[in-house]
Amino acid sequence: MLVTGGCGFIGSNFIRLLLAEEPEAELTNLDLLTYAGNPKNLEDLEGSSRYRFVHGDVRDETLVEELVREVDWIVNFAAETHVDRSTPAQAGEFVETNVQGPYVLADALRRAQRDARLLQVGTDEVYGSLSAPRRAREDALLEPSSPYSASKAGGDLVALGFHRMLGMDVLVSRSTNNYGPYQYPEKLLPLFITNAMQDEPLPLYDGGTQIRDWLWVDDHCRALLLLLREGEAGEIYNVGANQDPEITNGELTRMLLRLLGKPESLIRPVEGLRPGHDQRYAVDSSKLRALGWAPSIELEEGVQRTLDWYQKRRDWWEPIKSGAYRAYYRRHYGLEPKG
Ligand code: TYD
Repeated sequence: MLVTGGCGFIGSNFIRLLLAEEPEAELTNLDLLTYAGNPKNLEDLEGSSRYRFVHGDVRDETLVEELVREVDWIVNFAAETHVDRSTPAQAGEFVETNVQGPYVLADALRRAQRDARLLQVGTDEVYGSLSAPRRAREDALLEPSSPYSASKAGGDLVALGFHRMLGMDVLVSRSTNNYGPYQYPEKLLPLFITNAMQDEPLPLYDGGTQIRDWLWVDDHCRALLLLLREGEAGEIYNVGANQDPEITNGELTRMLLRLLGKPESLIRPVEGLRPGHDQRYAVDSSKLRALGWAPSIELEEGVQRTLDWYQKRRDWWEPIKSGAYRAYYRRHYGLEPKG
């Protein structure tokens, strides 16, 4: 099988799970190693005869056509993902990777006349902000609020178009916010965890009242494996933890400070850093659950496991929080992180 973007957070967790759960599988990981892709995420697989890394771009039509010739499954994780980076001025990068990537993959399968399954990994952010208690079903209106989510919506539709027009075996998943090991420390949880470990301020946006449906990354990966095995071609599947009660960013921040034994005075309220900040995401994931999937752990346990991982793996995140990351952090937050 082919995985694209496998050196990122969700992709690397997925590859490890897939190789364990599918003992016959042979897997190629195509990754461009942009800022959030890190070969260290998979260094334990170096030397495995069932794993091959190819350094390249999902938009490279010639390379991708070569790689799809013998595959049965493709999972596309290759994406620009960070909302704070998806400013109108940088929207082009998001469109190029997130829309053109699925197009190149699907079209390569068409040209190679390869009857393989393509799973396009998507996001619940395409449904936009929903007022409680509404949860988006897969047929909800798409109302993305950022170049990131708009480009992901575009990618989903491009991929599904190949099913509609040509009957190709394409499906789309749309997950809520993931958390767990190997998440790049620009996202809320790893940023706040590592800042708190360094006694640095936690920049909590816009009062911290926003709601995200936090999903343990391994549970997401299990959902993707189930969809590869049993999902229906042409369908979209929401993947959500359905936290009950829902948790705000402020509550989540206080939970992790309590688990770390750090004071709430580390929270630094900031306003206006994320124009069009979505208030609440929520999906109805009953279609996936009908296939037998359910999340395996509670949020607090998952947060504790995540904290433990970041505590053990300073060798992983300390080098990341230097170099280009520092320049981004200074530019975006006007703050200087400890290196
Ligand atoms: P993030 O992890 O960027 O994921 P997404 O935007 O895809 O949901 O942000 C999660 C929530 O946390 C979102 O409401 C914005 C908020 N947030 C902060 O309050 N401070 C931060 O420094 C970051 C990165 C996010």
